[in-house]
Amino acid sequence: MCGIIGCTGVKCASEILYKGLEDLEYRGYDSAGIAVLEGGKIISVKKQGRVCALKRAAEQLGGTSGIGHTRWATHGRPSDENAHPHTYGAFSVVHNGIIENYAKLKEELIEEGHEFSSHTDSEVVVHLLAKYYSGDLKEAVLSAVRQLKGSFALCILCAGYEGFVAVKYRNPIIVGVGEGALFAASDMPALCGLAESVAVLKDGQIAFASEGKISLCDFYGRPAALTLSPIPPAARGARLGGFPHYMIKEINEIPAAVKNTVQAFAEEKCFSALSRAAKKRGGFGDIVLCGCGTAYHSALAAAYHAEELLKIPSRAETAGEFRYRNSATGPKTLFIAVSQSGETVDTVEAARAAKEAGAYVVAVTNVPYSALTGIAYMSVPVRAGTEVCVAATKSYCGQIAALALIIASLKGGSAYSRTLSALKGIEAGCAAAISDCAVESAARACASSAGVYFIGRGIDYPVALEGSLKLKEVSYVPGEGYPAGELKHGTIALIDGGTLTIAIMTERTLGEKTASAVEQIYSRGGRAGVVYAEGCAPPELLERAEFAVKVPSFASCLSPIISVIPLQLIAYRTAVILGRDPDKPRNLAKSVTVE
Ligand code: AGP
Repeated sequence: MCGIIGCTGVKCASEILYKGLEDLEYRGYDSAGIAVLEGGKIISVKKQGRVCALKRAAEQLGGTSGIGHTRWATHGRPSDENAHPHTYGAFSVVHNGIIENYAKLKEELIEEGHEFSSHTDSEVVVHLLAKYYSGDLKEAVLSAVRQLKGSFALCILCAGYEGFVAVKYRNPIIVGVGEGALFAASDMPALCGLAESVAVLKDGQIAFASEGKISLCDFYGRPAALTLSPIPPAARGARLGGFPHYMIKEINEIPAAVKNTVQAFAEEKCFSALSRAAKKRGGFGDIVLCGCGTAYHSALAAAYHAEELLKIPSRAETAGEFRYRNSATGPKTLFIAVSQSGETVDTVEAARAAKEAGAYVVAVTNVPYSALTGIAYMSVPVRAGTEVCVAATKSYCGQIAALALIIASLKGGSAYSRTLSALKGIEAGCAAAISDCAVESAARACASSAGVYFIGRGIDYPVALEGSLKLKEVSYVPGEGYPAGELKHGTIALIDGGTLTIAIMTERTLGEKTASAVEQIYSRGGRAGVVYAEGCAPPELLERAEFAVKVPSFASCLSPIISVIPLQLIAYRTAVILGRDPDKPRNLAKSVTVE
């Protein structure tokens, strides 16, 4: 995923663009660049590395219109020449997405005499614009975009056109109107403080922004209506507020994230909407929960709970697998797509496929105006607030709460009120888990381990997966999440004195079983730590453990909200001990809008 931004009608475009890229940097940080219009000419600077590497060069520019880009590399390694904007002839372009037919287009353009300067897919766009341009900008844009296959959000600058053009197809772009100025960006927070009203472009739309006016058309030039609305307060970008990193700030926001998600469920009348949907379909025959990464882990935890409570087949699938297999999804299926950003292309396309197969699609997302909400029949909001850290933390806890409420709604009656009353204490439970957590020794143990394994049974297994992902993605310490019963079937071969295993034990009935898995680790010379709830781990195991972190007990449909917190804190502290940047880990981006 990349971040793109455009502006026109401003006093100093380079300043606006640079700041906007700082807000968008969570979307990718392999390279950054800006291009501005000065005296009718395009001037651009672009550099490999973080946005800050661009600062000095950007300060030399000015301009009244411009575009900017911060990159997560897909085609072409991170480098100055592969950085956006790509400039050729009268045009400069920034792109988020993948041009799937770029190789063929590039070959044809080279045969026509075009010279390329990068190894990216995106560069073909600027050459197509130059190819079709003979003075009519709109014609050139229409001709160029109709050649493209794949996904693309574009901002285009054209010498001699005092403005910019924004194009949207399967990647997000929002246009905004400020005081006499016009803007476009990949997300709302980048427009906060700039635009007073915004409009989310739809697939197949082109916005021509110039001289205080935005005109919309489709890819065939047919006019479209622009409906602006005030920028939503929730979109206000996050600020560090005294915390050293967004990750620790957002972990501390978990209690509010869960509370606000529960409130949103009631405000949006999700209970009755779900009951109506189920009734209309004569009841759901099966449930498929789908997501990627952390969203898949919350989906897996919810699948365990759904099958137990509703007694209908319920399963979780990674979106990247679901969309390419012929599943038995049909009109009796409830398909729940889980995604923090609502833009993860695998999840969006999986939801689209499920909808085409006749399933009832529900979106569970933290971003209300995202692509996923545009596909689903209904959305159940996670109200965690803007999550900047690439590692998902508060949004995961919000997802668990939202999914528990969805499942309880389908059960109805006392199940729903029981879940609501259990949620009443969850805020205090989260706060206790955050404050009481003695994670320092655990983090030091992780930082000095060759590999860290996370094991759990029942609802603790999806939490083990999530704990492992957190540690890997922010500290780069290798390891895996495993069902506690599976370790002895192979992976135990990796266990030795250099490895650490963290057992998650919040299921009272499974404590003894998981304890025997830990004993097997000890017998191979391995080290172990425990995250446990009262009465769920044998005392002798706690005495022997390298560390034992106790968390408050909650019903299993909600316990992941609590038991994940020590694992998030351990991952965060391990990253800091190892000198990593927990907010922007290498090779990653906040949401993967490419396949
Ligand atoms: C989680 O910490 C990771 N950043 C990543 O696995 C993420 O959960 C995944 O890319 C899905 O993102 P989404 O929730 O925005 O769809």
